Amino acid sequence: MKFFIDTANLEQIKEAHDLGILDGVTTNPSLMAKEGIKGSEAVMKHYVDICEMVEGDISAEVISTDFDGIVAEGLVLAALHKNIVVKVPMIKDGVKAIKYFTDKGIRTNCTLIFSAGQAILAAKAGATYVSPFIGRVDDMGADGVELIYQIRRIFDIQGYKTEILAASIRNALHIIKCAEAGADVCTCPLDSILGLLKHPLTDSGLAKFLEDAKKFA
Ligand code: E4P
Repeated sequence: MKFFIDTANLEQIKEAHDLGILDGVTTNPSLMAKEGIKGSEAVMKHYVDICEMVEGDISAEVISTDFDGIVAEGLVLAALHKNIVVKVPMIKDGVKAIKYFTDKGIRTNCTLIFSAGQAILAAKAGATYVSPFIGRVDDMGADGVELIYQIRRIFDIQGYKTEILAASIRNALHIIKCAEAGADVCTCPLDSILGLLKHPLTDSGLAKFLEDAKKFA
């Protein structure tokens, strides 16, 4: 399973990158706004900065909701850097735009996926990635990880090449469960990635080893 970081924060991207496990980055308009980036020139520069920091797929999201607007925005984003993946919402014009981008050889990430049906449509349109939002599914009282299992089964039966990018990750357990469910990629906040490191027996075991090492130092 590939690891993407789900942030537009350059320091957090650098920290995950320095860990040596980072395969890419996903952003969205909320994450960009959180960084206080204003104006389309600054937004474009920020995407390029991320691309120069991480060698891997970088999702940049369109904010138009009509076909012409999505296509126009997506073409500009895709031209910024070879690693940009155009992130398109799961709406009717979004599906049409994904097909358009697919035919042009432009890679896409279909975002805001909450059902297997939506994932099938995105895959049929040729999306490079589908992003099921498992945390938000959990928030509704349903089972987000089960959605990953279901999409995995369908994609395997149908032979779809679209990669399953588990999104809206809230904790380290989500990452483990997504790996178990067969997600191709997990995009995670830095805290959830670092949460994978933690185990009290590792801490106490290391403390004992270091204590004992003093005996022969
Ligand atoms: C995915 O690409 C989205 O950016 C993200 O995972 C949404 O997560 P949230 O539900 O924590 O906002």
